[in-house]
Amino acid sequence: MPLVTSAEMFKKAYNGGYAVGAFNVNNMEIVQGITEACREERAPVILQVSKGARAYANHTYLVKLVEAAVAECPEIPVVLHLDHGDSFETCKSCIDGGFTSVMIDASSKPFAENIEITKKVVEYAHDRGVVVEAELGALAGIEDEVQVAAEDSHYTRPEEVEEFVSKTGCDSLAIAIGTSHGAYKFTAEQCTRNEKGELVPPPLRFDILKEVVKRLPGFPIVLHGSSSVPQAYVQMVNANGGKMPDAVGIPESELREAARSAVCKINIDSDLRLAMTGTIRQYFAEHPDHFDPRQYLKPARANIKELVRHKLVDVLGCAGKA
Ligand code: G3H
Ligand code: 13P
Ligand code: ZN
Repeated sequence: MPLVTSAEMFKKAYNGGYAVGAFNVNNMEIVQGITEACREERAPVILQVSKGARAYANHTYLVKLVEAAVAECPEIPVVLHLDHGDSFETCKSCIDGGFTSVMIDASSKPFAENIEITKKVVEYAHDRGVVVEAELGALAGIEDEVQVAAEDSHYTRPEEVEEFVSKTGCDSLAIAIGTSHGAYKFTAEQCTRNEKGELVPPPLRFDILKEVVKRLPGFPIVLHGSSSVPQAYVQMVNANGGKMPDAVGIPESELREAARSAVCKINIDSDLRLAMTGTIRQYFAEHPDHFDPRQYLKPARANIKELVRHKLVDVLGCAGKA
């Protein structure tokens, strides 16, 4: 089937008590690892491209890679989504350039300005059959282009969501309930330690999610910054020349709980990066004389695939839903 929007996907996810995985793509191996897992598990999927990914790999290459995956996986619905569009122009370029979904992230702007920019993108997108994700609240953490210090982050204010959605006409809403971008989501001071000495992050604010859902019944909610930062991969990095002390993510049990509610889209990027980097570091430690990229990218792609499979089956609950 051709690329689809997320409209039908979100309706089914909302009613079915699961979430669709939104995975960031930057190169061929990542696209293949994700989509092979989704095809085998019969899972719908959102492939998302950030501004940084477009700067790195080029818009056309990424669109063609996703089109290749669609051709290889005709059984599953695939959305091509712009992640964290920072302006009307970036969104327009993706809408005109073959994307079926865009995010306009004006969450760092004042409320009225966020509404104004989002509305403009929605009007342009809807006229062309493209759907729009918007954001209210500010996640802490680091993306390529945006860095939000912990003191500048703030939770979504539930009392703002109805006005925002009705005035903008957006199709889904990303909210801030304590998730965070990157592999270092929380400082050691924000965490407690369990009996094994591992860092345990503060729990997500499910009370805010509940309040949002009460005000927007039936409306799809999105969670960004939802990597779990698997400690096995952090250890693989650190055991093979890397240095990622105290990297910590969102517990998968909390994401599973969110996926059962109105959360229809869960964004995962850092976990894929960790799987790829850990695998490549270990490969080189074990094969210092190898230099063929196919040799080390093959196990990296295979580990991305298995990680995505685990997310689909055990965290998102979307396996078998395509
Ligand atoms: O939330 C952002 C994604 O992880 C994309 O990151 O801007 O480094 O491509 P990036
Ligand atoms: P992570 O950094 O937790 O993977 O979040 C990715 C994300 O939100 C992309 O928009
Ligand atoms: Zn994000």
